[in-house]
Amino acid sequence: MALVGRSAQEPASARRTSAAGPTPLETHAPMAATALMNVMIGAARKAGRSLTRDFGEVENLQVSVKGPGNFVSAADHKAEEIIYGELAKARPGYSFLMEERGVVVGADQSHRWIVDPLDGTTNFLHGVPLFAISIGLEREGQLVAGVVYSPVTDELFTAEKGKGAFLNDRRRLRVAARKSLADALVTTGIPHLGRPGHAVFLNEISGVLKEVAGVRRTGSAALDLAWTAAGRFDAYWERNIQPWDTAAGIVLVREAGGTISDLSGGSAMFEKTEVLATNAALHKPLLRLLAEAPAAA
Ligand code: IPD
Ligand code: CA
Ligand code: CA
Repeated sequence: MALVGRSAQEPASARRTSAAGPTPLETHAPMAATALMNVMIGAARKAGRSLTRDFGEVENLQVSVKGPGNFVSAADHKAEEIIYGELAKARPGYSFLMEERGVVVGADQSHRWIVDPLDGTTNFLHGVPLFAISIGLEREGQLVAGVVYSPVTDELFTAEKGKGAFLNDRRRLRVAARKSLADALVTTGIPHLGRPGHAVFLNEISGVLKEVAGVRRTGSAALDLAWTAAGRFDAYWERNIQPWDTAAGIVLVREAGGTISDLSGGSAMFEKTEVLATNAALHKPLLRLLAEAPAAA
């Protein structure tokens, strides 16, 4: 694989900025995508074209009396049908877990696609261009591949187990190198009022805000994870988050050298519906900080 930008001989440590600022990304000649990646990318891009067309329409509907609610729900389902059709055609028999359609048990239960066709629905509904398509693949219960695609920015985040994580096929992703919480930009999601995790979240954020450089809430868990993999964010945590929100992003973070766990440091992210993604240095301090938050208000 030819390095176009930086020297391949340069030690990894030297390629990082000193205080840990964003980790420079190596630029490669376009990667030859595997057959599996081509299938996932094809499905994501096709659904992305559909969402992009509908996103344009949403802006017009903002001012209508009925608002864009039903239209967005239709756009979401349409994108999911496109992804389902593409993946089922390319890999007949694989099982599915999809946000809208739910569980589809295929003849091949050792493979399962985990799909969120539109992650960031509230943003989409309001004309905020922060949303993504998320497609993960599990083999024998292990996450092995993930694609997060942001159609508006045309950023495509891809990762396969053991093969690294990439942005638009050519930039190798690495989590940020920051070692101090005081320098860290942390992203999170807010469980809705009345839903599990809301009260404890208020305690967590109050503790985290005192220790870190800043906190963001993008409204798309898939982008939170992809951007953490890319070193834009130093960490991401969320409660009451579902497998379709995180499956692809988990592979991205791991392949970018990050650490990802449930909020006790274990790997039951799907079962506990919670996640913390960071680089190795910040993982324990953040786990500790979150554990210190009182369980309820
Ligand atoms: C939501 C987004 C949001 C997260 C929520 C998710 P949706 O997914 O990922 O960032 O905070 O928990 O439900 O509803 O937009 O697909
Ligand atoms: Ca989602
Ligand atoms: Ca969704």
